[in-house]
Amino acid sequence: MHTVEDVHRELDDIDWQLSRDSATRARGILRRLADDRPLLTDMVEAVPNTPELMGRCEHHPLMSRMVLADRPGGWCLRLHRFEHDERDLIPHTHRRAIYSHILLGGYLQAWHRRTDGKDGGPFTTADLVPAVISIEEPGADYMLGDPLIHQTIMRPGTVSLFLSGPARQDQWWPACDLNGMVTEMKKDDMEQVKDFSMTPAHHAAFAAMLRSHGIITGRTEL
Ligand SMILES: [Fe+2]
Repeated sequence: MHTVEDVHRELDDIDWQLSRDSATRARGILRRLADDRPLLTDMVEAVPNTPELMGRCEHHPLMSRMVLADRPGGWCLRLHRFEHDERDLIPHTHRRAIYSHILLGGYLQAWHRRTDGKDGGPFTTADLVPAVISIEEPGADYMLGDPLIHQTIMRPGTVSLFLSGPARQDQWWPACDLNGMVTEMKKDDMEQVKDFSMTPAHHAAFAAMLRSHGIITGRTEL
């Protein structure tokens, strides 16, 4: 039987270079956690009693991030929940390598290739062509290295296990020509809420949703 300490130790042991080995290890940890409902339940239920985790959780109008385990300056293991049919329209990069395992819902993902001969820094949509379109359904997992550019279209209620490695870039980049447009689209939602802290009530609702779908165990109190 695996414990929370085992998960921490295995994450500490990953060499976070963009290697096949790191992807294999990260995928193995996420898959096992998705299948080990008692362990995932323990981790979810521990969050409200662990200030250093609860203090890093976020509840946004568009998505929630529940931090299950964290090594400041290093890796971070979270549960993500997309509340609505969030359309992540802007092609973008990430500062860190990310690993995701879909638990519920799913999304369409476009992976883009740059045509300007660069492998980092700012870009516009004129510099991109779609390279791969993938459909991420429950049970699917993938790794996105920090130089890569992607965009996603979420199904409402999508839930995923999400793991990020240490920061490898100074900043992330959205497609510069679309950034202002989408900022405008999201401004109304974002201006409604000034504080993105996850409260105990937000956490309880997130956990109840996970129980109602059998992702964690225990009695569902909705
Ligand atoms: Fe992304």
